[in-house]
Amino acid sequence: MSDSQQAREHWSSNLGFILAAAGSAVGLGNIWKFPYITGQNGGGAFVLVYLACIAVIGLPVMLCELAMGRRTQKNPVGAFKKLTPASSTLAHLIGGLVVLTGFCLLPFQQYGWGVMMVLLGGAIFRYSWVVVGAMGVLAGFTILSFYSVVAGWTIGYIWKAVTGQLNFSTVEVAASHFGHFITNPGWAIGCHAIFMLLCMVIVYKGVQSGIEYWSKILMPVLFLLLVALIIRGVTLPGAMAGVEFYLKPDFSKINTNSVLQALGHAFFTLSLGMGAITTYGSYVDRKQNLFLASLSIAGLDTLIALMAGLAIFPAVFAQGFQPNAGPGLVFQVLPTVFNQIPLGSLWAAIFFFLLLVAALTSGISLLEVITAYFIDEKQWSRARATIVFGIVIFLLGCLSAVSVAGWENIEWLHRLLVAVFGSVKGSFFDVMDNLSSNWMLPLGGLFISLFVGWIWGTKNAMAEIRHGSANFADVHLFSLLAGLKDDQAYNAEFHVLTLASLWGVFIRFISPFAVLIAFFYTVGWLKLS
Ligand code: PFF
Repeated sequence: MSDSQQAREHWSSNLGFILAAAGSAVGLGNIWKFPYITGQNGGGAFVLVYLACIAVIGLPVMLCELAMGRRTQKNPVGAFKKLTPASSTLAHLIGGLVVLTGFCLLPFQQYGWGVMMVLLGGAIFRYSWVVVGAMGVLAGFTILSFYSVVAGWTIGYIWKAVTGQLNFSTVEVAASHFGHFITNPGWAIGCHAIFMLLCMVIVYKGVQSGIEYWSKILMPVLFLLLVALIIRGVTLPGAMAGVEFYLKPDFSKINTNSVLQALGHAFFTLSLGMGAITTYGSYVDRKQNLFLASLSIAGLDTLIALMAGLAIFPAVFAQGFQPNAGPGLVFQVLPTVFNQIPLGSLWAAIFFFLLLVAALTSGISLLEVITAYFIDEKQWSRARATIVFGIVIFLLGCLSAVSVAGWENIEWLHRLLVAVFGSVKGSFFDVMDNLSSNWMLPLGGLFISLFVGWIWGTKNAMAEIRHGSANFADVHLFSLLAGLKDDQAYNAEFHVLTLASLWGVFIRFISPFAVLIAFFYTVGWLKLS
């Protein structure tokens, strides 16, 4: 082991690591997105489908990322570099196919896409699997740039709640206020700057005294605020209709679309597919049980998402509003709901503060991926990496922040994108969101499972996972389920169904297949009724 590896910082405790990783997972995805997609997809039934996706795809991929990080003690690029064999036929094949597709696009005058695919294919051919790690670091830039804009809106809304400006009589008034607020460049950029600054300060302080220290404070605060909001919500007269809507499954509203939406969301909400969990895994020591860690992280993430729904729907129903308002649920419907209840400004301030805390612990994990890459691979100091890339992401985010008002202010960018890609759907903000959530994360997840399943190998990965896991991997699941733990066969050498074998099958076959289908569907290449 080299000096730089020995000097790598580690989490000071198991709890600190779990809270930091759960902090990365718990974010806007849980409190803003999960409740509204549940609202649109039939409440309880969707929750069940989502839980199945977390168990079948999320947990196995999370174990892969943790194992890769801990084994290599590196950022995602470094991790792939260390584990990639000198030559990989599969990578050559994929690279060649991508180059070929790029060339095929050129005669159709799709120059932007064509050239991009030729370059990407060439990179895959040359650098093999390391490109997956690089895509993760790139996704860190992309996601954080627009994530920080939304987090900035929550800062603005905390201020508005505290100064009593959220006194909307109807959702329409709230919607128009929200529209004015997010299209005001001063507010949007100012609040985005504050959020980026908070992320930079924490990441600058390092793994233990920055990320871990603040996660240990912020996560319990988040939990307590959420409990307070749930108690307030469910004790309002008429709240039970909301609880029933949320928890009573209505399977008639579930279709293929809901299943794929649940699968896509499972990746985003668990921070998978871009190396955030790999990076956090690289600070874990060999004594820790990665099975238990991934169960706790996914469990906490799911718990908070479910609790967020319980904090929101009962209050929405109690005040007679609709649950299917979509993305505007949190910024438009909720402030109107709070305006109608006693001490409404206080509750609104608590809610938006909660949203900010959730976003902050996720934002720092995104910035840490980039920081770790420049520290490990380019030998930058932590201070330099955090400051330089904090500013770069801030600048990129400014484009997203002003783009929600329309392309007028950044016409040059619009022209550039149209010239390269032919057409652009939505604002620059939407482009960044679409690029990362629909392309980079699912593709990252797909390639991570393929890599661990077929290239690095489930055997090597399992050897890493076994450290600190006691006999978890080899527990005979059949005997355990059958209540035969004391049976002689339980200790036999040959086990058919163990956690290790189950995980191996999932990661080699089921995860890649499911992710591929979900990916084709989300990007519109597969139409299902
Ligand atoms: N998991 C976060 C959320 O649910 O809001 C978003 C996220 C954070 C995605 C970090 C990816 C990541 F690396």
